[in-house]
Amino acid sequence: MSRVVWVLNGPNLGRLGSREPDVYGTASYDDLVAACKSAGERLGLAVDVRQTDDEATYVHWLHEAADGGVDALVLNPAAWTHTSVAVRDAAAALAAPYVEVHLSNPLSREEFRHVSYTASHATGVIAGFGLDSYRLALHALADRLATGSS
Ligand code: DQA
Repeated sequence: MSRVVWVLNGPNLGRLGSREPDVYGTASYDDLVAACKSAGERLGLAVDVRQTDDEATYVHWLHEAADGGVDALVLNPAAWTHTSVAVRDAAAALAAPYVEVHLSNPLSREEFRHVSYTASHATGVIAGFGLDSYRLALHALADRLATGSS
């Protein structure tokens, strides 16, 4: 049976393509979903890709994932990365491994982006590769799940 991986995207990521293309590129959110789905198919993962601008919804998705049935997660908490203790606490309670991803490299941008509240419990962080950040994260998680390491 396929392993289940959730890809959870935070605020403003639904506007990819039109949003600051100089920073985030011209790929749309639909392109992001398609890239994750096709990587999932190649890797034998059942990938569910979601996006919300509502912090409570994001936290509830993390609670759902913590309750079971999700083998691994890819999190792009977007702006909440740098602001949200609530998202950080919900991510910290996950038993499943997660990789934090960013399209851009926050460390090469404004100073307020240099802090990640949400990476503290991540297995790893992949940033700066556009949609490839997600593909790389799914590859890394597929390897981890196959070898049983967390
Ligand atoms: C982002 C980086 C964050 O700093 C920013 O707030 C985002 C997107 C990224 O994917 O590069 O919304 O998470």
